[in-house]
Amino acid sequence: HRRGLQTGQSVTKIPEFAFAFDIDGVLLRSSTPLPRATQSLQYLQHQNIPFILLTNGGGKHESERIADLESRLSIHLPPASFIQSHTPFASLNSYKDKTILVLGGDEDKCRDVALRYGFKTVVTPGDIFAAYPSIWPFSAHMLEYYRGFARPLPAPIDPAHPDRSLKIDAVFVFNDPRDWGLDTQIIKDVLLSRAGILGTLSEKNGNPDLPNNGFQQDDQPPLFFSNPDLLWAAKYHLPRLGQGGFRAALEGVWSAITGGKENGVALYKTVMGKPHQPTYEFAEKRLVEHREALLREKGYQGEVKPLKRVYMVGDNPESDILGANNYESKLGTDWTSVLVETGVYEKGTEPKHRPRKIVGDVWDAVRWAAVEQE
Ligand code: G3P
Ligand code: MG
Repeated sequence: HRRGLQTGQSVTKIPEFAFAFDIDGVLLRSSTPLPRATQSLQYLQHQNIPFILLTNGGGKHESERIADLESRLSIHLPPASFIQSHTPFASLNSYKDKTILVLGGDEDKCRDVALRYGFKTVVTPGDIFAAYPSIWPFSAHMLEYYRGFARPLPAPIDPAHPDRSLKIDAVFVFNDPRDWGLDTQIIKDVLLSRAGILGTLSEKNGNPDLPNNGFQQDDQPPLFFSNPDLLWAAKYHLPRLGQGGFRAALEGVWSAITGGKENGVALYKTVMGKPHQPTYEFAEKRLVEHREALLREKGYQGEVKPLKRVYMVGDNPESDILGANNYESKLGTDWTSVLVETGVYEKGTEPKHRPRKIVGDVWDAVRWAAVEQE
């Protein structure tokens, strides 16, 4: 058997390479596995080659998503091998005791995720709308839907008594918003408020003469996005708008509100997810730890030489390929980008960000890497 690709359970030689797989457009199209996804992952498990799944998707707790992936892909996935868009939010401990606004996802699944991450006080736009329907007149037809899962607000919207009014300390977009109108309105209200106190207007905001940072006051609540994807590969044959599409729409509204083309200011935000460096750092750390744990599990006692190469297999040049190409590893690991033709990238076109290799599907990616590692 080729060097670096052992068979069976006992591990005698440690492969110095591993894989990071994107999910949508590489392993799945929405909930349908791509033809050779399962055999690719089973092959690597059999060869003791470690891999992680690194997705800009989300909307459920990791444990729930893993169980779903395991049944769809007929594969065992250790929890450590799975990283989704909002996984890094779980480490933002300074907000755990604050009041956060959580957006996106089906019904209030993302609220559950945030609570399981340890955030103590979580509010959703649905909670606010259910309590104050006039806050967004154009979702009146959805009121019963929201009331089906809304929870009471921790405090009322009472601008006459700001000290006891609902105050949002940070805004987190966990997953793709289902009601762009309501969510845009609520985010705007929070960002233009005095220190996150809903129902108030900050005297600093709305003043176009202020410098750009006039809209990021010291006490203005920070806004976190978990996924930059403008487009993604769903079941439909053409790419669909992702969370990056919502952000672009919000930024258009924000620019218009803060002064338009001439005087409008940029939306102050933090965007996580592929292709950004922090997401790849988080993934690399997790992959290195996971590789070591796998080897120990298989009874390997020796020294584990450092990981030399990670093959990042993705379908989106803007996230998977750009991120791997730009990633600067502090552990000396080389991230090699491999682009598949089963997702966002259109076969035969020139990708905006050139991968190391373009292949048909995930199995071609695994085989190409295996041959390279011979
Ligand atoms: O919402 C999911 C989409 O943004 C893409 O996910 O798995 O291709 O990173 P993925
Ligand atoms: Mg993808």
